[in-house]
Amino acid sequence: MYPGSFDPITNGHLDLIQRGSRLFNRLIVSILRNEGKEPLFSVEERMEMLREVVQVYPNVEVDSFDGLLVDYAAARQATVLLRGIRAISDYEYELQMALMNRRLAPGLETVFMMAHEAYSFISSRLVKEVFSLGGSISGLVPSPVEARLQRRLSKSKHKGA
Ligand code: PNS
Repeated sequence: MYPGSFDPITNGHLDLIQRGSRLFNRLIVSILRNEGKEPLFSVEERMEMLREVVQVYPNVEVDSFDGLLVDYAAARQATVLLRGIRAISDYEYELQMALMNRRLAPGLETVFMMAHEAYSFISSRLVKEVFSLGGSISGLVPSPVEARLQRRLSKSKHKGA
C-alpha cells in the first residue's frame, strides 16, 4: 500500500508507483481523506487524476481512506507500506511514522524507496506554489494534472474578471 495526500500527484509519486508496481504483486495507492488539510483538489479529483495516470499498470489500484492507516491496511490485507524518501529532511518524519505504525501494527512492514534523483526536489506543495505564481511546472507533474491545474487557473481568472 502506498499512502499519501497526493494533492496533486507529482512525477516523483508516479516514479515510486511505477517502481513499486514492479516490486510488489499488487499496489494500492491510498489517498488520505482529511478535509482538515484544506486540499487544493477534492479526494474525488485526486482519485480521477491518479486513476488516469496509473491505468497503464494493471496491478495498481487507487483508493482512499479515513482514520488510522494501519486499520485501513489491515482491512485491505496489505502487508507492506511503501513510502518515498527524497532528502535527509524527509527521514525524521518518515521514521516517526514508521515506528508509530510498527507499534500499532507490528506485522505491517514499512519499505522505503529513494526518490529518483530527477524528482528529489519536487513536492506537491512547491508545485502548487510555483504554478499559482505563474512559474512553469512542465515535467514536474503528469500531464492530466497540469491540464487540470490550467483549467483551475483559467476558471479563477474568469471569475475574477
Ligand atoms: O503524503 P503525506 O501527506 O506525507 O502522507 C501522510 C500519510 C497520509 C501517510 C499520514 O498522514 C497518515 O498515514 N495518515 C493517516 C492517519 C494515521 O494513521 N496517522 C498515524 C500515522 S503514524
